[in-house]
Formats: sequence, structure tokens, C-alpha cells
Amino acid sequence: MKRPFIIDCDTGTDDTIAILAALGCEEMEIVGITSVNGNVAEKHTSQNNLDLMEYLGRDIPVAHGAWLPLSGSRDSNTDPKIHGKTGLGNTELPHAVKLQFDPRIAATFIYEEAKKRKGEMELLVTGPMTNIAIALAEHDDLKQYIKHIYFMGGSTVGGNVNSTAEFNIWADPEALHAELMSGIPTTMVGLNVSNRAVMTDIQEQRIRSYGSREGILAADLLLYMIARTKFGDYAARMHDPLALAAAIYPECMEYESYYGDAECTGTYTRGHTAIDIFRKSQNDPNVTVATEINVPLFSEWLCERIRIAGEKGEELRK
Ligand code: RIB
Ligand code: CA
Repeated sequence: MKRPFIIDCDTGTDDTIAILAALGCEEMEIVGITSVNGNVAEKHTSQNNLDLMEYLGRDIPVAHGAWLPLSGSRDSNTDPKIHGKTGLGNTELPHAVKLQFDPRIAATFIYEEAKKRKGEMELLVTGPMTNIAIALAEHDDLKQYIKHIYFMGGSTVGGNVNSTAEFNIWADPEALHAELMSGIPTTMVGLNVSNRAVMTDIQEQRIRSYGSREGILAADLLLYMIARTKFGDYAARMHDPLALAAAIYPECMEYESYYGDAECTGTYTRGHTAIDIFRKSQNDPNVTVATEINVPLFSEWLCERIRIAGEKGEELRK
């Protein structure tokens, strides 16, 4: 039985690589892709998702999602240098002409599709948690229909927007707070492991050699990310694909269960993920946190997923 997933994403460069890899995961039934404001405005993240599905010849529903975080802040996009003006680096996909957006907004799509699967639905969230928080606020019974949420976000040490906050959570901390308080089984893949999930020109050349649309697109995005890494080590961080691995290939990492929450106030700490790694809280653990990563295992797995996605895609597009 395939595991039904909805991918909620702010498609972006690494989100796209996660989607490409997901298309190569035989274990997954991708029920739909919901878009959220994050790396770039929702009008771009949703269009990227639709264009990507048409370009790959995949008829997977794509839904619009939240334009703004719960706080209403209009200052929650990343610097255009990171993902490019429209979110796909310097890649321009052909504008979708055949596929249309699903008529439902993300929160409704998530609720209705999860309800149909009677508690088997899992979510992969690779952008701000806004859509999930809206769905939880609108549907009191949603949590009983969600089996597990895997998200890329936060960190047990440091940040990337500033010294304490990672972008996805910084962009909408109230949303993560709502999700962590919901009681839905949740796995967090933070910068403490995803900053180590690197791919270099070696993997870029390997993935490009597959020759499929999936491989060439992933390689182009990798090239863009490698050239822009601020770490100066010419390696692209596979933040979002690592959250996919937590769901599909968990053995490439180690995990601990902790109590955690999102810091929503604090002049300097808003967006911080307060993970109780010293177990001082009286609260029961509410999140499984990735703590260690086997990088070669992950990297090999990711390359293989993209190869398989390309083989399936080329077959479909014949
Ligand atoms: O901090 C990394 C996260 O922020 C990734 O999901 C990336 O796509 C951006 O959304
Ligand atoms: Ca993302």
C-alpha cells in the first residue's frame, strides 16, 4: 500500500528537488501539492508547482495557499539572491497551459483529502507551516485524519535568518506553535542536520548524467545553489529533501523525542524553535527531532530517487 502524502511547500530551489525526489519514491502516493508564501510570494510558489507538474507530465493536483503568515507580516520572503526572483534560481519553466489549479484553497484541500483517507494521510511541509495552522483552525477534527507531519524547519542550534531563527519558522512562528500544540505526531528536520546534508558538483554531474527532465532540472538547481552558498564551501544544502528522507528513508538519520515550541515573542528570538534538549520541561515530548545524519547514505539515496523519478517521468512523457 502506498502512503498518501500532501506536500506543502514554498517552491523554491530545494523544495523543487524534494518534489523531484518524492516523484521517485515508490512508497508515496502524492495526493497533492499545496503552495504557501515563503521563499517567494505565493503567486510564484503556486505557479512553480503547477508549471513543474505540467513540465514533468504529472497530473498531481496543485492548490493555492496562504499569501501571508498568520501574523499578517508582509516581510516574510527570503532575499531574492537565495532562490531567485520567482523561486527557481535562474530556471524558467514553460508556463502551464493544460493544468489548472485545484479549485480548493490549501487548508480545504488538506482537510478534505485527509478526511477521505481516514487517518492515513501524512504531510511533508517544506515551507512555513501557515496552511496547516489555518486547516487546524478551520477544522477541529483535522488532527484525527493526519497520521504524521514531517517538516523542514527550526534548529536545535543557531539559525539562518539570524543567530536564533531558521527561515521557515521565522516566517510564521505562530503556525508552528499551533501545529506543535495540536498533538499530531510530528518529526522536525532542522538546520542542525540539514546544514550538513550537502550536495556538490560531484552529485550535480551524476544527476545531470541521468539525462531526464527531472535529472537536468535538479542539476541546474543544484548548480545555482552551489554558486550561491553563503558557506563558501561550494555545496548546496538539501534542507527540504532531508525532510522527505525523514519520512521515507528515516534510517539515514538519528532522532530524539523532546518537548518543543516556537518562540513567538522576543525582540531577538522570534521564530526560534525552543527544543528542550536538556529535558527540563514538565511537558511530555511532542516532537521527534532529527539529531544526527549519515550524509553519504542520504546523498546516495537522494541521487537514486531523482534517477528513478526521471525513468518514470520519461516513460510517462512518451
Ligand atoms: O531554512 C531553509 C528553509 O527555508 C528551506 O525550506 C528553504 O526552501 C527555505 O524555505
Ligand atoms: Ca522550502
